Amino acid sequence: MPKVTFIAFNGQHHVVDVPAGLSLMRAAIDNNVPGIDGDCGGQCACATCHVFVAPEWAERVGPRHANEEEMLNFAAELRDSSRLACQIPVTDALDGLVVSMPEGQH
Ligand code: FES
Repeated sequence: MPKVTFIAFNGQHHVVDVPAGLSLMRAAIDNNVPGIDGDCGGQCACATCHVFVAPEWAERVGPRHANEEEMLNFAAELRDSSRLACQIPVTDALDGLVVSMPEGQH
């Protein structure tokens, strides 16, 4: 099962096992990871699942979708590495993925 590390703004690491196919947002919610609220339930409509993908993972995670790009324009602290966790399905290829959360989500 892929392992994902969520790094909260305060530096706390949360390592969770994620069943392949689950979204990164759902994995965070199911494991009570602080900093990911997922208010819209994964509909790409709230940006409360904003994460920064560690640079070494950017290529494997892939680019943003058009809807995601639009939603991220409303997110604070937008960076090149910004993604919405609900739009990232976790696959075996993402075993070891590291993401961090912005200051506004703690
Ligand atoms: Fe709302 Fe991701 S959960 S945009």
